[in-house]
Amino acid sequence: MQAKTVIITGAGSGLGQAAALACAMEGANVVCAGRTLRSVEATASEAAKAGGAAIAHAVDVSDMASTEALAAATLSRFGRIDALINVAGIAGPGTALTTSRQTWDQVLNINLTGTWLMSRAVLPAMIEQRDGSIVLMSSLGGMVGVPDILAYCASKGGVNALTKQMACDYAPHNIRVNAICPGTVKTPLVMKPYNDAGARDPAEKERMMDRALKRWPLGRWGQLDEIAALCVFLASGECGWMTGVITPVDGGMTAMGWQVGR
Ligand SMILES: NC(=O)c1ccc[n+]([C@@H]2O[C@H](COP(=O)([O-])OP(=O)(O)OC[C@H]3O[C@@H](n4cnc5c(N)ncnc54)[C@H](O)[C@@H]3O)[C@@H](O)[C@H]2O)c1
Repeated sequence: MQAKTVIITGAGSGLGQAAALACAMEGANVVCAGRTLRSVEATASEAAKAGGAAIAHAVDVSDMASTEALAAATLSRFGRIDALINVAGIAGPGTALTTSRQTWDQVLNINLTGTWLMSRAVLPAMIEQRDGSIVLMSSLGGMVGVPDILAYCASKGGVNALTKQMACDYAPHNIRVNAICPGTVKTPLVMKPYNDAGARDPAEKERMMDRALKRWPLGRWGQLDEIAALCVFLASGECGWMTGVITPVDGGMTAMGWQVGR
């Protein structure tokens, strides 16, 4: 990753922060982008200590002007964009009957429209370079049905479709597009429903955590650095012939089947 420039969205917490720090430790210049400047300043300063240069930048991935400003700021500081790792995302509860219109719009705007807009913002530079890697943080929810998160599953299914579609359009420009579908790693996004249940009844949180654990054939939750390692591998271009691939990183859950332990 030496001398490569990587934009990471959602870099203020969870998987995005882990990916930014992992890229920095491999020597990349990292652009740590998050919803507010304040949310990504700590990641950028830690990344700068790890190796390459690092800057913090505010972005709303669901806003076209904001994504274009992020790409422009990256080009002005580093002169190129070798990789985008698009991690920004939200979840929202509900079935087809109970999902509110507001939740649907928010989740689709950030997770799906945001993925398109961020990709759209970096593609011109990558086309000019005739080289680039786009890494999209999808989810198992895009591959299998997960109860009570309709909008989230729809958005991540869309991200998986974008992955294959953009891989086709931009392969002639030597731009690879791949997606990662993590199982559950304990981040603020994943822990929210458990913590909400725990606030009502601590024993219920324990039961939910125990049920979740049984879903992973490897017998444990995923770790931040395990997802970050795949981000680095895909962003680095080390396997430059890999594109349009949707990779589950889920402790074997999709191999075994979602019903395991339920
Ligand atoms: N943690 C997991 O187990 C898991 C599993 C599957 C998929 N994912 C995906 O990984 C991604 C990161 O989630 P996480 O678990 O690290 O949670 P997280 O809540 O820690 O991270 C999400 C980040 O996205 C940022 N964000 C939200 N809306 C934004 C916007 N409009 N513009 C810019 N940034 C925005 C948030 O500020 C936050 O930093 C999400 O796309 C999520 O769907 C996570």
